[in-house]
Amino acid sequence: MSEQLDTLVEVSESIHGDNFVEVKYDDLIPNNVDLSSDRQLLRALEAWHPNYLDWWKEMGPEGFQESEVYLRTAVGVDPTGWAKFGHVKMPEYRWGILLAPKVEGRTIPCGRHKGQAAWQEVPGEYRSLLRRLIVVQGDTEPASVEQQRYLGKTAPSLYDMRNLFQVNVEEGRHLWAMVYLLVKYFGKDGREEAQALLERRSGQQDNPRILGAFNERTPDWLSFFMFTYFTDRDGKMQLAALAESGFDPLSRSCRFMLTEEAHHLFVGETGVGRTVEATCTAMKKAGITDPYDIEAIRALGVVDLPLLQRKANFHMSVTRDLFGSEISSNAADAFSSGLKGRFNEANLTDDHELQEATYPVMQVENGQLVTNEIPALRAINSRLLDDYIADCQGGLDRWNKTIENAGIDFKFTQPHKGFNRRIGEFAGHRISPYGELLTEEAWQAQSGAWLPNDSDMAFINSLMKPCHQPGEYASWIAPPRVGINKQATDFEYVKIA
Ligand SMILES: [Fe+2]
Ligand SMILES: [Fe+2]
Repeated sequence: MSEQLDTLVEVSESIHGDNFVEVKYDDLIPNNVDLSSDRQLLRALEAWHPNYLDWWKEMGPEGFQESEVYLRTAVGVDPTGWAKFGHVKMPEYRWGILLAPKVEGRTIPCGRHKGQAAWQEVPGEYRSLLRRLIVVQGDTEPASVEQQRYLGKTAPSLYDMRNLFQVNVEEGRHLWAMVYLLVKYFGKDGREEAQALLERRSGQQDNPRILGAFNERTPDWLSFFMFTYFTDRDGKMQLAALAESGFDPLSRSCRFMLTEEAHHLFVGETGVGRTVEATCTAMKKAGITDPYDIEAIRALGVVDLPLLQRKANFHMSVTRDLFGSEISSNAADAFSSGLKGRFNEANLTDDHELQEATYPVMQVENGQLVTNEIPALRAINSRLLDDYIADCQGGLDRWNKTIENAGIDFKFTQPHKGFNRRIGEFAGHRISPYGELLTEEAWQAQSGAWLPNDSDMAFINSLMKPCHQPGEYASWIAPPRVGINKQATDFEYVKIA
């Protein structure tokens, strides 16, 4: 057992007298929430922490728990120096509890309490709604770790393996962030929810994770990069909306989580981008200009661009479902009560109450797609989804630039909002990526061109050969331009045990 874990156990065992304030627990859990002075919180975390570690060992990255990984650890919230880097075994990672600095005089930014002082304690009338928001956010964090747990074995480089594990430990820390709120502010039921977060399992029939996309498999590295680009971006949007919460501890938690989330999005964007780059480079070298010359392209050991588009279509559509029903009274309640804002709430120039306002929502009516003006309060989810779709475009534009620079005639696009949806206004309808309503027969005949099929997935799987030597990169992905924390690209990012 490591020294740190020893310390934890020691401290855990001595938390019965008054002298438990030993700052050692503080050493173990980097925090800026004055952990050592809050006895109740300490006790709750004391009970939860060993279960968390059990969960991590059982459901975290398989096969690499003893390896030393070059990880960044959040040690503060100062924007210029909040993290430190070093090789560490993942079970010994210091998952901290960090809140963004308090903004003096902060007020509730939206809803019927707009302008009142932000809540420092749970507003009693909204207790269960608030708890639900925190639990749903919290549930996504361990879910993605579970989804990604087998990927280490087939990492296309040590650089990528390290990035995977970095994302994983930070999702673990995000779970901590939500558990902190639950156990500090919600008493017994908060503690029960914290435990349940360790008991649900991604993809498990009888006790699945709460949201659909978090029960999908992440079977390969291309899926991982698509997930971190598209699905972690849902995380970004949700965190941004929760960062506007009138419940100040939630706002401060989410504001700091957004700092870490940026790296997850970077891993996704550059992962897909490097895949595109490897494809373009290999095509050019082989003198192939037709992006649909699939057999010849796949023979080069790279992923053809049309398959990347189909993969992206899948991840985009599944992730859009995470925003929930476009028209939602729950979302209206969360906004009106001031518990959750909109994306960029503070910069929006309306009245932030939306009693009279409307918002255009696309719906299916009499076999046609029509846009209706809906009371804006009930269209909060629809708006966040639109903001998300706009936010996705930057990466596609940059990937397209790479393709254009290589002189290849191909362009990634986002499918129509209603494509392949299971939740909300478009559920139960068959809509093409170009926005045409289709019959079931027409969908069955054509959807193979729009979503990855079994042979696509088998091909991707065939590329997943581990490259576990420093500086070695798989054929299908270009090395990064720069390493992590200015290290070289052939740095030993993971010392495999
Ligand atoms: Fe997260
Ligand atoms: Fe994330």
